[in-house]
This record gives sequence, C-alpha cells and structure tokens, in this order.
Amino acid sequence: MRIATLDQLLDALDGLFADGSDWTRREQDDPWIRIFSQDTHPLNSNLPDANLVSWLRQGLLPSGEARTALDLGCGLGRNTRWFARQGYQATGIDLSAYAVNQAQARSNEGDVTFLEGDVLREHISGGPFDVIYDSGCFHHLPPHRRLSYLRTLEKVLKPGGLFGICTFAWGQMGSEEDDVTLLRQGHLEGGIAYTMDDLRQVFSSLEFLEGGALQVESGQTEEVFDMPFLHAALFRRPQEQQDGS
Ligand SMILES: C[S@@+](CC[C@H](N)C(=O)[O-])C[C@H]1O[C@@H](n2cnc3c(N)ncnc32)[C@H](O)[C@@H]1O
Repeated sequence: MRIATLDQLLDALDGLFADGSDWTRREQDDPWIRIFSQDTHPLNSNLPDANLVSWLRQGLLPSGEARTALDLGCGLGRNTRWFARQGYQATGIDLSAYAVNQAQARSNEGDVTFLEGDVLREHISGGPFDVIYDSGCFHHLPPHRRLSYLRTLEKVLKPGGLFGICTFAWGQMGSEEDDVTLLRQGHLEGGIAYTMDDLRQVFSSLEFLEGGALQVESGQTEEVFDMPFLHAALFRRPQEQQDGS
C-alpha cells in the first residue's frame, strides 16, 4: 500500500507510537482506567475548571435558550455536568468506555448525554454545538493528530461558536521536545507542553478571546478545579464569510 490520502498518512504516523505512549487511540488495554479508578486522583473530581466559572462570570459564554455544549475527552464528566447545571444541553464524549460508564453513573442533573467515541476518527452526533470545551485531551495528542482535531472542530463547532481549551502549560508540565523529535523518537512523554502562543497558532483560524493560568479568582466562593500546571484559552469561530464573488 502506498500513502495516497491524508488519513492514510495520519494512520501511518500513528504507527510510529507503537510503545503504548499514545493514549488517544483505542488499544486493547485502556490506560485511562488506571487514572480514573484511583479515588485520590485529581481527575476523579466533580469540580468544574476554574476558567469555566470565570468565563461565565465575565459573560463570555453564550446565554439564552437551547444552548448546546460538547466536552471533548470528557473523562468522568465533571465539566460536562457543570455545563448542564448552567442550562446547556451538554454532551460529553470520550474514548474510554470505563470513563463514559462512570460519567453516566454520576449524572443526575440537567440535560446531559455521555457518548463513547473517538473524536479524532469518528463522527460526533448531535452537532454542531454552540460551545466546545476540552480539558486535558488535546495535550495528549501526538503532533500529527492536531490535524484530525482541527478537522473535528471545523465539523462540530457552529460559526460564531466558542471553543475553550485547557492544556499543560509550557514550563510547568508536559514534554517540551519539538514535534519532529517526538515523531522520530516514537514516544510521547505523557503529554505535550503548550505556550499560549502555541495554542493561538494551532487555533489561528479562530479568534482569540482570552487565556491564562487555571486559578481561583479573588473573591470566588464556588469550589473549582485549579492546577498550577494548567492554563486555558477561549476562542470564537468567526461567522461564515458571505462570498461576494
Ligand atoms: C486527562 S483526561 C481529562 C478528562 C476530563 N476532561 C477532565 O478534565 O476531567 C483526557 C481524556 O481524553 C480522552 N481521550 C483521549 N483521546 C481521545 C479521543 N481520541 N477521543 C475521545 N476522547 C479521548 C481520554 O479517554 C481521557 O478521558
């Protein structure tokens, strides 16, 4: 077989990470079970990310009837459930059947749906969405799969919709190797560190609204998830251009 399509190239590059360090595709063993089954693991939380609460307080998230939100790589669904509590029709999607089952078992509030699926390789039903959010999925992707991720966003984010993302912050956590080194070595080192400029560059088709560390705002009373090694950014997809030609 000779590579003739982008998908064939991406699949071939997946094959470079044969050492089990790519946690963003289906393998026989689900590595996320080890994380989510630990009672004391920080991700075994029910709290929303600090930045979500801050964006809501600042009026940056859309309000009104029939708003929809999609949580990519939702894990145990802590942020999905927060969207549902704010009145969104909230959908969480995750590769891990274990995570999706646990998320479903914890959901007793609002309009919330959990789906098992691969956001890089499979169709996501129910879209397009007003808001798409990702906390901690994107930074685990091997470099070439950013292309699949961008393609997914293109398909499921409404024109004018918002995209929020929370990743490892450069200098705090994650690999700082360049992409070519990661591809050559075929090992992902537990996730990739991103600067805010990296995020702005990767999502340059979207308008940057704001970004910063994941931290509790002064005077905030609601309990939130904050970690010094994470940062978050919020973008807006431009409305579709009218083709005047
Ligand atoms: C670090 S965890 C974050 C979980 C959750 N967002 C949170 O912050 O609590 C990353 C999650 O991304 C999911 N994931 C990784 N690759 C994925 C893919 N291709 N499609 C869907 N989910 C994926 C994993 O199964 C895992 O639950």
